[in-house]
Amino acid sequence: MFTTRFLDLPPLLSAAGTVHLPGSKSISNRVLLLAGLSAGTTVIHDLLASDDTRVMLDALRGLGCDVQPRGETLHVTGLGGRLKTHDAKLFLGNAGTAMRPLTAALAVLAATQSGRFDLSGVPRMHERPIGDLVEALRQLGCGIDYLGNDGFPPLRLLPGTARLNTDKAIRVRGDVSSQFLTALLLALPLAAEQQAITIEVEGELISKPYVEITLNLLARFGIEVVREGWQRFTIARGSAYRSPGDIHVEGDASSASYFIALGAIAATETPIRIVGVGSDSIQGDIRFVEAARAMGAQVSSGPGWLEVQRGKFPLKAITLDCNHIPDAAMTLAVMALYAIGTTRLDNIASWRVKETDRIAAMAAELRKLGATVVEGADFIEVTPPTQWRPAAIDTYDDHRIAMCFSLAAFNGLAAPANAAVPVRILDPQCVGKTFPDYFETLFARVSTTPQDIPIITVDGPTASGKGTLASAVAKSLGYHFLDSGAVYRATALAAMRASVRADDEQRLAQLAANLDLHFDADTICLGGQDVTETLRLEEVGALASKVSAWPLVRAALRTLQVSFHRVPGLVADGRDMGTVIFPGAQFKVFLTASAATRAERRYRQLISKGISANIDSLRAELEARDARDQTRSVSPLKPAVDAMLLDNSALSVEASVEAVLKAWEQRRPFKET
Ligand code: DC
Repeated sequence: MFTTRFLDLPPLLSAAGTVHLPGSKSISNRVLLLAGLSAGTTVIHDLLASDDTRVMLDALRGLGCDVQPRGETLHVTGLGGRLKTHDAKLFLGNAGTAMRPLTAALAVLAATQSGRFDLSGVPRMHERPIGDLVEALRQLGCGIDYLGNDGFPPLRLLPGTARLNTDKAIRVRGDVSSQFLTALLLALPLAAEQQAITIEVEGELISKPYVEITLNLLARFGIEVVREGWQRFTIARGSAYRSPGDIHVEGDASSASYFIALGAIAATETPIRIVGVGSDSIQGDIRFVEAARAMGAQVSSGPGWLEVQRGKFPLKAITLDCNHIPDAAMTLAVMALYAIGTTRLDNIASWRVKETDRIAAMAAELRKLGATVVEGADFIEVTPPTQWRPAAIDTYDDHRIAMCFSLAAFNGLAAPANAAVPVRILDPQCVGKTFPDYFETLFARVSTTPQDIPIITVDGPTASGKGTLASAVAKSLGYHFLDSGAVYRATALAAMRASVRADDEQRLAQLAANLDLHFDADTICLGGQDVTETLRLEEVGALASKVSAWPLVRAALRTLQVSFHRVPGLVADGRDMGTVIFPGAQFKVFLTASAATRAERRYRQLISKGISANIDSLRAELEARDARDQTRSVSPLKPAVDAMLLDNSALSVEASVEAVLKAWEQRRPFKET
């Protein structure tokens, strides 16, 4: 219900640590398709788990491949070139690496084995060209209908001429997307049993390194392709996919670009270590390293790893033909914000037909930050801002825009020095296409001054609904969440288990200082045991109220609570969040509801869990606990002087959350959301 519509990155200052990259998208989807077409079982290691691989996997399952996760690996048993399902409708999201090769493979299989397949995707996929590939497949004799606009998905693949026309070379354009050639190379071994097949590329082939990945992986699946320059490719007669048994997927070199840039901009003390790609990578985007070096990064590498540290800073502006690194080049456009002078990226026309029109999108978003941008049909020029502006970055359902613009949060390091501003990334979950936990990975490796990391506190009496409110606000904002009541409840539970008396302040404080307490997504573990439900018991709450009155206990739990204050921000709920633990919080809420309302809510909560309850005694207990919390000598429950008072007796949870988010937004510097 409460999704993260935007993520505000505080101004960031430095970076350090080790990053384990997720698997390469390009390799993952090619390997999946090849495994799906091969006979036998392929055991895939380190496969990328993301939106784009999920749609490919769903498609393979839809076609009758057996797909079994086993531990850290995925076992895929392929079709061996024979259709199991002759009729399927496949939805391929926005994954070009699924749409193009599946179109080619299924067109050939439909033609030769009487299949009928509909391939569709999200609206943007229906705007991404596929006509050149369809033309090439029609030359072969494949039957393909456009179900929407000519030249674009959705498509219907139909039975065609049973014997494909492989005598002549198949011609395909290479200057719009190299994925058309890749699709043919991956699929045509299906038709090369009797005769060699030649593919001829028309026009200058772009993104050649991606075709190299294709050739490399075909070789691992037993398919030899003879390449003459970048114009002619011949698949040998008698070709048949042979599973290599086990295959490892490298880390994604395009994803590495964000951390290479991070090192170049912000790794001032120790290098950022990147594990998963290195000097032995088969991915073209590894050459991003050369571009980063040219801008000033210090990079060392070995097989499967890179280390990147700041070298020259501010960075050096460059002019670069980026045809060989089209995806990673977007990261250069953001690095340009930290350079002296104007950076020009040439030969990037393919940006216009990717997840979005990336030239237009990058230009628009860089300008929001204050940069001067010139864009042309196939280039972009970026001059850094003289004055950075806090900006809400639109991401156009394009994972790379979300990831590369996160690097703009280091603007406090840019020259000329000016006030550091936060950066808002809209629809941040679009990173799920290739790097679902990108932001968590980034946040765990960056630091900044604590005052710059926002805190929202939600204090209030028991059963006021502050936990529900605070956790929903945290989820909406993508911030960390501290349920400080759980910390006191855990202390109470630990005391019950160790038979420590409620008046033994010393021993209680000792227990509190040594709590083995872990918060993980929606569960709380104490001493390795899930205690999420147990902590909510009335008797635990009642003891927590007593235990929490002791000054030594409160002091012992302070460090643990403060440790939740991390990038990108924190929402903390409790009794003294705004007054004692986080007195400098940017926004404080004091939530109340009448005792009658609170007793009724607690009553309904208990009944729904099948626990019998009496509303009058619940109310009496609530009021007793309020009195104890309000009158204790340390950290009594009271609103912070600067807190927003919110009585939610007559408000739904959604309405309370909206009220808090609206008030928070008024304190933010962003104009649009
Ligand atoms: O919010 P809760 O009901 O889970 O809290 C349990 C008890 O812990 C509550 O009676 C008072 C105490 N508490 C506290 O003293 N300070 C906090 N910040 C949070 C809870």
